[in-house]
Amino acid sequence: MMKIAFFDVKQYDKTGFDFYSDLNNIKIKYYEPRLTADTVGLAQGFDAVCVFVNDEVDDYVVNKLYEYGVKVILLRCAGFNNVDTKACFGKIHVYRVPAYSPYSVAEHTMALLLTSIRRIHKAYNRTRDFNFSLTELTGFDLFGKTIGIIGTGKIGKIFANICNGFGMNIICYDKFPDKSSKLKYVDLQELFKKSDIISLHCPLTDETSYLINKNSIDVMKKGVVIINTSRGGLINTEDLIDAIKNKKVGAACLDVYEEENDIFFRDFSNHIVQDDQLARLISLPNVIVTSHQAFLTKEALDNIAQMTINNLISFYENKPNINNEVCYVCAKREECHKEKSGKCF
Ligand code: NAI
Repeated sequence: MMKIAFFDVKQYDKTGFDFYSDLNNIKIKYYEPRLTADTVGLAQGFDAVCVFVNDEVDDYVVNKLYEYGVKVILLRCAGFNNVDTKACFGKIHVYRVPAYSPYSVAEHTMALLLTSIRRIHKAYNRTRDFNFSLTELTGFDLFGKTIGIIGTGKIGKIFANICNGFGMNIICYDKFPDKSSKLKYVDLQELFKKSDIISLHCPLTDETSYLINKNSIDVMKKGVVIINTSRGGLINTEDLIDAIKNKKVGAACLDVYEEENDIFFRDFSNHIVQDDQLARLISLPNVIVTSHQAFLTKEALDNIAQMTINNLISFYENKPNINNEVCYVCAKREECHKEKSGKCF
């Protein structure tokens, strides 16, 4: 029987994972802590570890896992920036769930945007207090506005479709534009300059780290709305706060935050949060923060569980899905063996 050590578990994870592991005779041990250098010892005796976005799978952790005989890291998410894939190469195979419901994230992105610009969060609080005044609740139409979408993969494309339904003018930037699509691509500077709203849907890499910073904000329109449902590190938070304070940025909708690791997914309602930047963001009336919630739909959770378990089974049955394994040389075909053997190494 295959055994998985499951880190950073939440109640909502268990329904799908219990179902698909029972179905396939796989044993899962659930651990509440995240996988870090301090908790890696819990992985001894397991074939695989299952991790999420904020587990810290660095060089030290990877080598410990290897020493313990762990063969596979199963990411139950799409992004893999928190795993040192270079350290894993030749030692531990890394699988992810590249798409589980891109609709969940794209729809949450629009939910954040509408909430922000139509002041729904303010109105909700007011009417609960029987305050029916409309003062300061004036929004703006999305129809005819220019939205700049950075990253036109699965989520970015679905979000573009949703924006199309609102009659928006859509411009896009992608390092690898999809020439078969009907999207209008522009260069990054033009996107920054022309967009009324900018939405981030690219991965976090060395190249995209702090893509939104003082310099890029300087070229944007006054009052621009910035949405980030991708990864926190895409935005320099300090620069964003400055730009909101000086009214260059009109609003920000954030489902992710660069320092979210020790905060998001937990209840701090009875604590004094020590992160002053996050506290400042939350105190601003034109900032909405959700805690990395965009993926959280029933459909997405079920797909994540099913695909994660399938990744493990197909790895052991030597029928791996090459789209789901990642390594640091996947892009260099001559070094990654995926297309020849079905596995990266
Ligand atoms: P995807 O891999 O389908 O698309 C990513 C796109 O970004 C690709 O078209 C790629 O060419 C482009 N890209 C790569 N490097 C770029 C660069 N330097 N500049 C501009 N574009 C670049 O990924 P998908 O599924 O659309 O997900 C997008 C991001 O959404 C993920 O990287 C992940 O960080 C985030 N995400 C967030 C979730 C949440 O709950 N908030 C859930 C799932 C994903």
